[in-house]
Amino acid sequence: PATAPLDRLGRPLRDLRLSVIEACNFRCGYCMPADKVPDDYGFDAAGRLSFDEIEILVRGAARLGVSKLRITGGEPLLRKGLPDLVSRLARVDGIDDLAMTTNGALLARHARALREAGLRRITVSLDALDPGLFRALSGGRGDVSDVLAGIAAAEAVGFRKLKINCVVQRGVNDHEALALAGHFRGSGHVVRFIEYMDVGTCNGWQRGRVVPSAELRDRIHARWPLHALDANYRGEVAQRHAFDDGGGEIGFVSSVTAPFCGDCHRARVSADGRLYTCLFSAEGTDLRPVLAQGDLALASRLAGLWTARADRYSELRGDPRAPGKHVEMFLVGG
Ligand code: GTP
Ligand code: 5AD
Ligand code: SF4
Ligand code: SF4
Repeated sequence: PATAPLDRLGRPLRDLRLSVIEACNFRCGYCMPADKVPDDYGFDAAGRLSFDEIEILVRGAARLGVSKLRITGGEPLLRKGLPDLVSRLARVDGIDDLAMTTNGALLARHARALREAGLRRITVSLDALDPGLFRALSGGRGDVSDVLAGIAAAEAVGFRKLKINCVVQRGVNDHEALALAGHFRGSGHVVRFIEYMDVGTCNGWQRGRVVPSAELRDRIHARWPLHALDANYRGEVAQRHAFDDGGGEIGFVSSVTAPFCGDCHRARVSADGRLYTCLFSAEGTDLRPVLAQGDLALASRLAGLWTARADRYSELRGDPRAPGKHVEMFLVGG
């Protein structure tokens, strides 16, 4: 049975977000802008945790009460042999929610193998339906039809209720929000609108580009009336809403206008095995030396790091006490 350590603000560790690769085939301006991150960035396999190390990490984390595991990147589908890793992680005792976040471009060719390996949930990032805008937002590299084909392939092999994540920027893609909501109404999938955040060091964040979720909700409500739903579980990141007419569910992630650090149960590990206790941490802690000693040693080290945690960046944003330097989003996968 797991013993759950609490951090300095009384929060347990429940949710591990694990990056399996630091490379991405897109260059979204808010994450990995092409003028700041070279084309071949992240394809040096030598620095990454092996599948054996990852399994030890997840077993150790499960001992501390982690039950929710999300595989991220970069773009996780670029990691060779990912279905083999998924099948190993799906068998770890205590992990009862295994999900992946992907940009969807390569999903059509991997959906079946992932399903058969035991992946249960998929989140696809999709910031626009308009092909030209989509391409521009991906740094000139993505084709929206590939992403839509990926979503269709995931449905065809049995994935239900996908999450479709849209990062909204004023004057950039906020006019696409209604189209996205309309496109997925009635599909059984859940579109979630995410406030543009000041992650990393190179995304050139401007507060004026943030569209507050309340404003976006009102815009959608004016077209298709909505009502709020209760959270599925304590600490759920998205605020849930349903269409009054039965068209399904949408969500809003409001880390800028309504921070949710109070219930933050998430730890992140980069592909090279560094632990970040916040999306906005400056420094990670290298777990590799302790991974070599097995899952018990890892659990004990992780417990020590977690009990020292006091992060609440989104609540401090703009305050001089808030850390100024942040890990890059593509290293910890959002
Ligand atoms: P479900 O398990 O399906 O509810 O997903 P989730 O909401 O846990 O994870 P998801 O990766 O879909 O989160 C959506 C987006 O919310 C991320 O891409 C981030 O932009 C943002 N986000 C998630 N967790 C945090 C967090 O701890 N802090 C902040 N500031 N933003 C977060
Ligand atoms: N603001 C908000 N969300 C971001 N993501 C990446 N960069 C940002 C940002 N600056 C999230 C998106 C994307 C996921 C991989 O990371 O949700 O879908
Ligand atoms: Fe790649 Fe996702 Fe970052 Fe876009 S947001 S550059 S798809 S990791
Ligand atoms: Fe958690 Fe940090 Fe996000 Fe707050 S800002 S919710 S502490 S990851």
